[in-house]
Amino acid sequence: MKKVEFGSQIAHVGSTEELCVSLADEVEKLIRERAAEGKMAILGLATGKTPLPLYAELVRRHREEGLSFANVVSFNLDEYEGLGRDHERSYWAEMWVNLFDHVDVVEGNVNVPPSEPEDAERAAGEYEEAIRAAGGIDWQLLGIGGEGHIGFNEKGSELESRTRRVELAKRTVEDAADDFGGVENVPTHAMTMGVGTILDAKRVVLMARGEGKQEIVKRSMEGEMSADVPASFLQKHENMGWFLDEGAAG
Ligand code: GLP
Repeated sequence: MKKVEFGSQIAHVGSTEELCVSLADEVEKLIRERAAEGKMAILGLATGKTPLPLYAELVRRHREEGLSFANVVSFNLDEYEGLGRDHERSYWAEMWVNLFDHVDVVEGNVNVPPSEPEDAERAAGEYEEAIRAAGGIDWQLLGIGGEGHIGFNEKGSELESRTRRVELAKRTVEDAADDFGGVENVPTHAMTMGVGTILDAKRVVLMARGEGKQEIVKRSMEGEMSADVPASFLQKHENMGWFLDEGAAG
């Protein structure tokens, strides 16, 4: 694995396997250190295809190496509006299928933004409050959308944005169409942590794989910081790591 510096940004470049080992090492260290102090580790987690091999590696460490998630509290970045927890495309369900069902996390410690809140603004405020009450996110994992969104912070999302209800961009809906069997089935709205919420995390890591992400990763790491590419605001974070495979790094 290579460590490459781009201006103030640090990229870790390697195979998917190397990226996953390195990221899983960070998670494991945090969990074990906190456990030794009798404290919880607060993880910010992401969905999408990108982190799946990382989750598989964490499950493997749980099964084979005794890594316990009993002291983990998790906050997911986002959730589609209108998809209940039993909907297989809800991010709640995806997190359980790909990670939580296979480890010893306590269900009450798993947080995903609500999909069907009666009052979205209030629910968003409560999500923010829950993160604060937990002591803030220690380690936040991100993927990146084709137009530079993080969570569901689409183009136009400002640096100060907090958890809120958002409308999905056309490109995001198109990208999800296959998973939903057509664009017409993709939810039009979601609830997402804001850019500001994400930047409050003590450590932020963004994982990107494949050539399809190369251009947007470049614009995010090296371009001007602007709401046109919300991931560009990550340049501001003092403890930010970009974890890229050869395709995404280019
Ligand atoms: C969705 C999610 C993002 C994710 C992005 C990329 O928009 N809300 O959190 O980063 O998809 O997904 P993938 O990893 O499948 O490319």
